Amino acid sequence: MHDLALTVNGRDVALSVPEAASLLHVLRNDLGLNGPKYGCGLGQCGACTVWVDGVAARACVIPAHGVAGRAVTTLEGLGTRDKWHPVQQAFEQAQAAQCGYCLNGMVMQAAALLARDPHAGEARIRAELSGNLCRCGTHVEILDAVRRAAA
Ligand code: FES
Repeated sequence: MHDLALTVNGRDVALSVPEAASLLHVLRNDLGLNGPKYGCGLGQCGACTVWVDGVAARACVIPAHGVAGRAVTTLEGLGTRDKWHPVQQAFEQAQAAQCGYCLNGMVMQAAALLARDPHAGEARIRAELSGNLCRCGTHVEILDAVRRAAA
């Protein structure tokens, strides 16, 4: 076990975590933040996407000790139940969900892109989301949602 201090969704957090724990494990199991999902566990599907210092990152392959002193944002820190983030609103308007398991990663990845490039074009959107997988096959609606948010 080792001590870890970081900021999660704007709050300072200090806890003791196993040496080999991933950031995803700590977020879900120690902090009860279930926005980020466990999909592949290999950094290949994007279901676990969070922001580390504002940059989209795969929480399943980041050692928890690697984010000491950093600012982590999860889906829970993006919008609230009363005030959704514009990307979340666009996903709802485009009905861009089937089972919904991938949506954490899709939303976090898209919101990171639009924070850098608010009016990202088609090629940029497709490139940004190319590493986020949806096994239901709702990529058409997902791309529509991100286009709406970028308009
Ligand atoms: Fe992290 Fe798939 S669960 S990339």
